[in-house]
Amino acid sequence: MNGFRVQYEPMEKKDSNADLAKIICRKYLNDAAALIEILHDVQEHFGFLPRDMLPEIAGHLNITRAEAGGVAGFYEDFRTRPPARMHLKICRGEACQSMGANGLIKLVERLKRELEGEISFEEVFCLGNCALAPAIMEGERLTGRVDESFLETRIRRSTGQGPVNGQDTGGEGK
Ligand code: FES
Repeated sequence: MNGFRVQYEPMEKKDSNADLAKIICRKYLNDAAALIEILHDVQEHFGFLPRDMLPEIAGHLNITRAEAGGVAGFYEDFRTRPPARMHLKICRGEACQSMGANGLIKLVERLKRELEGEISFEEVFCLGNCALAPAIMEGERLTGRVDESFLETRIRRSTGQGPVNGQDTGGEGK
């Protein structure tokens, strides 16, 4: 936070977004040159940049909403939507492809559209679990011999879309 004088004011749960914008901007003396630091603070607090914060911030910094929105949209680090509740890695290595990884990827693409931002995934090329292909990783949890039914159950449960009491069917931890 190079060169900005920072004033700390406690933030409380009861603070509205407008209050939070005021507190965070005041921390940087309402200096428009600190816009990026301010946006980082907002994102750290919420996990993303709520849309209603940008006009508030722009007002405190005496800049236009378009300027604030332009900076928020320019940098890939800033998210304007809440982060996905579930992040998956799906292996597309040779062993996993031969055991059905492509079907898992199609399933996840379909569920990603259906669940609108609740899941994100990336394709990787070997999770070191080839003997139990196809393999996926959710957070730090590696699972092998995954089939589509197991994966759909796991995704729906992790995103609050399915039953939480039953056991996953299929799949093996490493
Ligand atoms: S190829 Fe998928 S775990 Fe190795």
